[in-house]
Amino acid sequence: MKTYRVAVAGATGAVGVEFLRLLEERKFPMSSLKLLASARSAGKTMQFAGRDVKVEELTENSFNDVDIAFFSAGGSISKLYGPIAAKAGAVVVDNSSAFRMDPNVPLVIPEINPEACEAHKGIIANPNCSTIIAITPLWPIHKVNPIQRLIAATYQAASGAGAAAMTELEESTRAYLENRPFEQKILPHPYAFNLFSHNAKVDPVTGYNEEETKMVKETKKIFGDPNIRVSATCVRVPVLRAHSEALNIECERPITPEEVKSLLENAPGVKIVDDPEKNYFPMPKDASGKDDILVGRIRTDTSDPSGKSIAMFVAGDQLLKGAALNAVQIAEVLVQRGWVHGA
Ligand code: A2P
Repeated sequence: MKTYRVAVAGATGAVGVEFLRLLEERKFPMSSLKLLASARSAGKTMQFAGRDVKVEELTENSFNDVDIAFFSAGGSISKLYGPIAAKAGAVVVDNSSAFRMDPNVPLVIPEINPEACEAHKGIIANPNCSTIIAITPLWPIHKVNPIQRLIAATYQAASGAGAAAMTELEESTRAYLENRPFEQKILPHPYAFNLFSHNAKVDPVTGYNEEETKMVKETKKIFGDPNIRVSATCVRVPVLRAHSEALNIECERPITPEEVKSLLENAPGVKIVDDPEKNYFPMPKDASGKDDILVGRIRTDTSDPSGKSIAMFVAGDQLLKGAALNAVQIAEVLVQRGWVHGA
């Protein structure tokens, strides 16, 4: 079996730490592992498979001996170093939004469009976390009864804004309970016992923020369906690491909740959690640390008398399927299908 020289850019971040854990847990075939971060972290050590690995400063020369480079250090770092890594011969799997809508860059959820990876020119984009968590469970439905319209409302965790935002949520909650003042530095509004419209920039023309626009555009690209109509309202809630979303879909033909359940029962990456008797449905607490996206509250949307609309509620770990896990699965597709060089 071939092995690969792997680098993780942003190794010390919230997603970076999950990359290390997943590469170890899933026994990714590696011959070497390079951990890259800012100069602030250079020289620190991180644990991988029971041994210490030194963190190196990310520079232009970091990728000369790398086959697969996972990037999760923010959009500007990806924009700058992604093309450098690709030029040096690595295949970049990029977790930022830098290249997602570039027509030359595949945007991939392995449960949906793994074959898109083949056309890569050195960079493959990992979709936005809210997009992945919404549309992975929708794909099995879309394949048999095309979704014409999706309306999503998100309940997004702190982890999407990075490790520092998670710390800010914990510290501001502690301060709130101890009746101490707290000055937030990472997020724009008080987070403890509060929620607010997603902190991405709002387009003054459309009124949609960038997170919402990502969900609209990325869904069309991943489904390969420019006609699907999507609208989203994205909100940050004081949860550490799993996003939840209320989804309303309108299909081409009538569809029942039973049909949806049977389509999702054995779908990869999805687990049905739907117990109306116990009022037990997907919760971020249950989705945290889990690979699967939890799906429940599957019911007919009675506001549409045609019977074509379904409402549901999903929860998925933002750091795993929303980020590191999806990226590692992309790399596994590359390895399994021979779409990356190894030795
Ligand atoms: P560092 O820990 O050295 O700042 P998060 O998404 O959790 O905020 O993590 C961001 C990741 O991106 C961290 O690993 C961080 O490293 C890394 N990073 C931030 N700025 C740079 C930079 N200028 N060069 C390389 N890595 C960076």
